[in-house]
Amino acid sequence: MTRDNDRQMKAIILYDSRSTEGSTDRLIDSIGQQLAENGAYVEKARCKATGDYSFLKEFDVVIMGAPVYYMVVSSQLLGALLQSNLKRYLRNKNIALFLTCGSPEAMALSVYLPQLKIHLMRNRIVSEKIIAPHQIDDEEVIYDFVNEIEEGYRKSFKSSRGDSLQWSEKALEQLESLPPFFSSKIKEGLSVYAREQGIRCITPEVLDEARANYEGY
Ligand SMILES: Cc1cc2nc3c(=O)[nH]c(=O)nc-3n(C[C@H](O)[C@H](O)[C@H](O)COP(=O)(O)O)c2cc1C
Repeated sequence: MTRDNDRQMKAIILYDSRSTEGSTDRLIDSIGQQLAENGAYVEKARCKATGDYSFLKEFDVVIMGAPVYYMVVSSQLLGALLQSNLKRYLRNKNIALFLTCGSPEAMALSVYLPQLKIHLMRNRIVSEKIIAPHQIDDEEVIYDFVNEIEEGYRKSFKSSRGDSLQWSEKALEQLESLPPFFSSKIKEGLSVYAREQGIRCITPEVLDEARANYEGY
């Protein structure tokens, strides 16, 4: 019998690099191979700043990363976060970030990684790794990264299993436009409201209805 948490994890590695068969290509092959050996379904895709990222709907985990050139994370990945629909399709995904660069880890964490994380403030980041070119063939580094990704995925799967309440895209957009403190309080209140009313999916109409009920008191 297949249990829910035995479901095969679907991961995509979304990457960018100016090189062909450089360190980034080698790194993502190692990450992909390790994930596949552990039973995941894995695909890889090179980022385009103006790409259409609706295909991310098919995946549970998005592993995203690129090299740093002249102190800036490679441009197609940064461009995609700024210009395309990538951010929209990253909502509700488990995200793992990696950078390959020659600088010390402390510098990469404080100067380079925030260039990605500033666009992902509301997302669930399950792991982040800075990998120097000389570490790319280090099995332990790859193993640790993959392990953290799988662990993060399992945790998110467990926490979502108990909550069968669905949110429509539009209702989520409305909720996410609020400051995080209010949105988490409202989410909690709405879960109770939906349970009481037997509602399975929160839509903008349900939000209006709940607000009207609340204001009526
Ligand atoms: C032109 C060039 C500029 C680079 N600039 C930086 C930099 O500013 N900071 C840094 O930490 N690493 C820098 N690096 C190192 C690369 O980020 C690192 O070698 C990376 O693994 C290259 O990935 P690739 O082989 O896929 O191109 C630079 C490398 C190149 C070739």
